[in-house]
Amino acid sequence: MNLITVDTSSADVIMPKRLYVLVIVLAASLCLRLLYKNFKDPLRSIPGPLLGRLTGLWITLIEFSGNRSTTVHELHKKYGPVVRLAPNQLSFATTQALKDIYGANSNYTKAPIYETLGFKSTFTTRDRDEYRGMKKRIIPSFSPASIREMEPLVHRQLANLIKCFDKRVDAPLDILPWFRMLALGVVGEGFAGESFCGLETEKMPQLLHDIDWVFPALITKWSFPITSRIFEYLPFKAARQFLNAAEDFKKYCGSAYFKYLNSFDTTARHDLIARMVNERTELLKKGQSIPRHVTETGIIEELTNLIFAGTDTTGNTLTYLFWELAHHPEWQLRLRAELKESISEQTNPDYAAVSELPVLEGITQEIFRLRPASPNGLPRVTSASGGVIDGIVVPPQTIVSCQALTLHRDPILFHEPDRFNPQRWIDASKTEVLEQMREQMFLFGKGARSCLGRTLATMEIKLTLVAIVQRYHVEIGSATTDKDMEMIDHFVLIPKGQKCVLKLTRV
Ligand code: HEM
Repeated sequence: MNLITVDTSSADVIMPKRLYVLVIVLAASLCLRLLYKNFKDPLRSIPGPLLGRLTGLWITLIEFSGNRSTTVHELHKKYGPVVRLAPNQLSFATTQALKDIYGANSNYTKAPIYETLGFKSTFTTRDRDEYRGMKKRIIPSFSPASIREMEPLVHRQLANLIKCFDKRVDAPLDILPWFRMLALGVVGEGFAGESFCGLETEKMPQLLHDIDWVFPALITKWSFPITSRIFEYLPFKAARQFLNAAEDFKKYCGSAYFKYLNSFDTTARHDLIARMVNERTELLKKGQSIPRHVTETGIIEELTNLIFAGTDTTGNTLTYLFWELAHHPEWQLRLRAELKESISEQTNPDYAAVSELPVLEGITQEIFRLRPASPNGLPRVTSASGGVIDGIVVPPQTIVSCQALTLHRDPILFHEPDRFNPQRWIDASKTEVLEQMREQMFLFGKGARSCLGRTLATMEIKLTLVAIVQRYHVEIGSATTDKDMEMIDHFVLIPKGQKCVLKLTRV
C-alpha cells in the first residue's frame, strides 16, 4: 500500500513560533491597556493593595470571610489615612473625612449595598425623599419620652436575666446567648409588643438562630443573584435554609404584628404599630392612597429591621464588655464602689440616678471605642459632581467610607489604642480632648443617617452593667475564651467562636 506522507516538521516549528508571537502581542496589549487605564485613572495616586486597583472582587471575598474591618484597619496602618479598596472604593480614617462624608453639608447617599442589608425600611432606604417619609413615622418612638417609657421593660428583662444567671453561678457559662435574648426581649417587646420569651423560657428562640444568617444570606443573594435563584429551586435543603434566613426571620416579626393587632385596640395606643395602623385607617376613611410604609408589608418589614438593628448590636456589645471586665477585675471593683457610694444598696436603680456616673460612663465609652458593634465602613456614594474629601478630589459615583474600628484606634487621640482603659475617658472628662475623642467616635454612625436607637442601646447597656456588677464577680470561664472572642464581622461585630464562656460568682 502506498502511503502518502506529509512532512510536518517545518509546520511544527512555525506553529509554536506563531503562538509565542500571539501570546507576546496579547500580553503587550494588555499591559498597554492597563498602563492607559492607570494613566487615565483619577484615583491612581491613592495607595492601596495592587489587587484592589484591578478588581472589587477581592474586597467582596474578604467581606464574605468576615474579616473586612480588620483587613481595612491593617491597610490603614500600612498605607495611611486614605486607602483604595477597589477600583471605585476608598476608605478614609480622619475626623475631617468623617465630616465631609457624613456631615450636615454632605450630599452623598447610602451605597447600593444597603438595599441588601434587610427589608425595605428606614435603615435600608437610599432615596432621600422616600427616607424622610419613613423616618418621620418611626422617629417618635425614639424621642426621650418614648425611651423613658421603655425603661420599665428594660428592668423587667433584666430581672429575668438575673433569675437565669442566679441559677448558673459558680460554673462556666456561655453569656452570649443570654445577652442576645436580653436585647431581643427589649426591642421585641418595645417595638412589636412581643419579647419572643427567650429569657422567660430560658430557651433560645428560633429567630435568634435565623438572625445569624441574615446578613451573609442577603449579601450572597445580592452578589450572586442568578446562582442564588438557581439554588433556591434545587433540592439542597441546607442551601435553601441559608438563602431563606431573612424571610424566616421576617415571619416571626409578622406573627408578632398580627398577635399585637389581635391583643390591642390600636386607637387607644400611641406606640409604633398603633401610629402606623391608625394612619392607614384614617387614609382609608378619606379614600386616599396608602404609602407603602403603612401597608401591612411596610409595617412588618420596618419592625423586622428594627428588631434586627437592636438585637445583635446591643447583645454582642454586652458580651465583649463582660469579657473585657473579666480581664480587668479592677474596673469591676471601681464600678461597685462608685455604685455603693451613689445609690448605696439599691438594686434596679432608675436610669436617671446612674446614667452620668463617671466610672460607668468611662467603661461604657471604652467598650464602644474598643469593640464597636458596627466596626465596618458605612459606605456612601459621591454625587454626580463628585466631591472633595479631606482635601482629596473624588470622582462621581465613587464609594467612600470611614470605619469605626480604625477611627476608634487612632493612636494620636487614644494612647495605646488596643488596650481597654476606661480611665482615658475619666481623665479627658474635664479637658478639651473629650470633645475631640467624641467627635472621632463612629460607633453609631454620624449625621442624618446615624443610629436612632443609640439612647435606648446606651440605657440598656448601662443598666445591665449596673445590675451585673452589683450582683456578680465576673471571670474568664474557659481556656478558649480569648480565642473565641477574636473579632469578625458581617456588618455587625461577632465573636469568632460564637461563644463567650465566663464564670459568675455572687459578690
Ligand atoms: C450598640 C448598639 C447599636 C449600634 C452600635 C448601632 C449602630 C448603628 C449604626 C452604625 C447605624 C448607621 C448605619 C449607617 O449610617 O450606615 C445605625 C442605624 C440605625 N440603628 Fe442602630 N445601633 C445600635 C442599636 C440600635 C437599637 C437598639 C436600635 C433600635 C431598634 C437601632 C436602630 C437603628 C435604626 C432605625 C437605624 C437607621 C437610622 C437611619 O437610617 O436613619 N440601633 N445603627
